[in-house]
Amino acid sequence: MPDPVRIGLLGHGTVGGAFATLLAERAGAVEAATGRRPQLAGTLTRSEGDFSEILGRSELIVELIGGTDPARAYVLDALRAGRSVVTANKQLLAQHGEELFGVAREAGAQLRFEAAAAGVIPIVRTVQESFGAIEIDKVFGIVNGTTNFILTEMAATGAAYGDVLARAQELGYAEADPTEDVNGADAAAKMAILARLAFHTPVTLDQVPYEGIEQVKPDDLAYAKELGLSLKLLGVAERRAGGISVRVFPCFLYGGHPLAPVGGPFNAVMVEAPAITEVTMSGPGAGGVETAAAVLGDVVSILAGEVPVHEARERLPLVTDLSSSFYLHLEVADEPGVLAKIARVLGENEISVKSVVQRGIGDDARLVMVVHECLESRFSGALEEIAALEELRSAPRAIRVIEEEFL
Ligand SMILES: NC(=O)c1ccc[n+]([C@@H]2O[C@H](COP(=O)([O-])OP(=O)(O)OC[C@H]3O[C@@H](n4cnc5c(N)ncnc54)[C@H](OP(=O)(O)O)[C@@H]3O)[C@@H](O)[C@H]2O)c1
Repeated sequence: MPDPVRIGLLGHGTVGGAFATLLAERAGAVEAATGRRPQLAGTLTRSEGDFSEILGRSELIVELIGGTDPARAYVLDALRAGRSVVTANKQLLAQHGEELFGVAREAGAQLRFEAAAAGVIPIVRTVQESFGAIEIDKVFGIVNGTTNFILTEMAATGAAYGDVLARAQELGYAEADPTEDVNGADAAAKMAILARLAFHTPVTLDQVPYEGIEQVKPDDLAYAKELGLSLKLLGVAERRAGGISVRVFPCFLYGGHPLAPVGGPFNAVMVEAPAITEVTMSGPGAGGVETAAAVLGDVVSILAGEVPVHEARERLPLVTDLSSSFYLHLEVADEPGVLAKIARVLGENEISVKSVVQRGIGDDARLVMVVHECLESRFSGALEEIAALEELRSAPRAIRVIEEEFL
């Protein structure tokens, strides 16, 4: 009988604890799939274990500490010592991916990270292996469960952002400090990882512009409903103008879009390529057991001897000025000629209106419209001109829209 595979576990929190339990429960299944039975060789937390001793006793390291320090040093040491590593750490990969993959290649070790990109959805394996030899045009979707829960609840109940965030924290869908989730930074790290895999080019977190959902108002969602739209925080990585664009932003979708019905703390990712048309996968965005299951899948892949290649093959430029369609929410004085003035500013900037909802409220009025796709720099210019009009009662609010209507 072959010796058991000895696994060193770094971190024993929400995911690490669940992984230790799952590994014990599923050891027989891992053995059946790979021919080798896994066994924990030691666990490191802030108060328990010694990294060097655990490394010396282990054949494979699972890093579930999170953050970059000391996780980066531990992962580098493990790889240099020739140990394959599984991690769920998006920050580590989005900030130091090139260095880590380089060291892994030199050492002939594997670095696996399925749980770092979109919760339990097997998007890393799919992009890297199933679609590894086709040209991908676009990978995009909902890669943060906390914000999707908040937006779903705001749309369903009409409650304000702050109240729904508090409820998400009570239910365990948002951390005590939710900043990185709600401001888009968590999604940006995941999109940097996915862009690198899809386009074989180095992408780091600091190259991914992101916007969050903190400014979304309940009435944006109510008006949007009238226009047939629902709001999602989207991560988008796509080929554009000879380069790539990778961004995170709140975005309205028309009903019928495959991502429109994805509600609550779920994630969903779409891949588009001429060879496959379009593939959509959805599933839980986080959770101890769910994430641990994705980590265990990586352990199985390593033991089964599958070796993914992580070499950047291209150096694609990052394109920043893109075209988008927009939702525009204006609070204006209810006077004759205001709509004409706004239409003139849009017209002068070659921006055409797709649909408008107008409401009078006392002396004021709301103009809510969707404009057709235009260059974002042109739209920003028009927005500045509109904001300067004396009839404007508050700053204009604009959110991107995916114009495609699915029937
Ligand atoms: N939670 C999720 O649903 C989820 C989903 C996808 C990915 N992830 C990723 O999974 C990783 C782990 O997340 P988690 O939610 O399990 O975190 P967590 O509950 O905060 O657990 C972190 C663990 O790491 C240990 N640790 C922290 N600093 C350490 C240090 N300096 N030296 C040694 N050990 C240290 C902690 O030790 P103590 O026990 O002593 O505090 C704890 O056991 C992160 O990269 C996260 O982004 C999490």
